[in-house]
Amino acid sequence: MDLGLKGKVAVVAASSKGLARAVAEEFSREGARVVMCSRDEASIKGAADGIQKKTGGEIAWTVADVGTAQGCDRLLKTALDRFGTIDILVSNAGGPPPGRFDDLDDAAWQKAVDITLFSAVRLTRLALPHMRKAGSGSIVYMTSTTVRQPTQYLNLILSNAIRAAVQGMAKTLSSDLAKDGVRVNCVQPGRIFTERIQQLDNDTARRQDTTPDAIRAHYEKNVIPLGRYGKPEEFAAAVVFLASPKASYITGTSLQVDGGMLMSMF
Ligand SMILES: NC(=O)c1ccc[n+]([C@@H]2O[C@H](COP(=O)([O-])OP(=O)(O)OC[C@H]3O[C@@H](n4cnc5c(N)ncnc54)[C@H](OP(=O)(O)O)[C@@H]3O)[C@@H](O)[C@H]2O)c1
Repeated sequence: MDLGLKGKVAVVAASSKGLARAVAEEFSREGARVVMCSRDEASIKGAADGIQKKTGGEIAWTVADVGTAQGCDRLLKTALDRFGTIDILVSNAGGPPPGRFDDLDDAAWQKAVDITLFSAVRLTRLALPHMRKAGSGSIVYMTSTTVRQPTQYLNLILSNAIRAAVQGMAKTLSSDLAKDGVRVNCVQPGRIFTERIQQLDNDTARRQDTTPDAIRAHYEKNVIPLGRYGKPEEFAAAVVFLASPKASYITGTSLQVDGGMLMSMF
């Protein structure tokens, strides 16, 4: 299937590792021009070079912390300086740290709001004028299945609380921006194996006095019908399709990529 992505400019935030790195690679494989960032120069340069070698595509990268206004500005400026426009925005940031309610003070909540909610708000605000000018565009927010159903472990309260705000913003925007030709969708990972999932399994294991392997085995045996954690490229395929012109009649939707983990019907 030709997704219609050749030459499109796709900004993929927080993309040196994990899910968003795989998304960047998939866009590049489809012929899009890709713009990447993370907070660490060696890491983002290595990721961009690696993708460029594999796909032969055009990649721009910068060091930017999307939990700050300056970082969001820098990422979008990199896209505009190099490619002159923005067709697609994939809004992503590192997950807030694990912790239960009693572990977290105001500063921890505020930081999580900056990283999870304000990155999405600011990146959207910066990308929109260019999409409106073009009369078309596509935004995908990477959220989480925990928006629909918080995990049975209770150490993700920051993510559970704040991602719901991103999801609400996305749904509202999907109606508001339709008149501008801009589609807005969310993709919700369940348990796709990355450093983040490793970190969460380590944290849960420590709190439950067990091992990360036992936590993973519990999910794979009892919770995920497909019987395994997902792979980043399986998540990336969903994001790239929804972002692409081939998904031209899909807006306001939220797609779970979770091996069937959630039992909710909608
Ligand atoms: N993996 C899953 O199954 C899953 C499930 C539910 C939700 N999620 C959420 O999806 C997002 C991506 O997850 P992941 O598993 O890919 O995480 P990951 O493996 O930890 O990768 C996170 C990426 O984001 C970058 N990053 C982190 N904070 C940043 C910031 N403030 N500014 C710019 N870049 C930043 C990191 O690079 P630097 O450290 O170099 O900045 C890295 O490239 C997270 O929010 C996570 O909580 C993931």
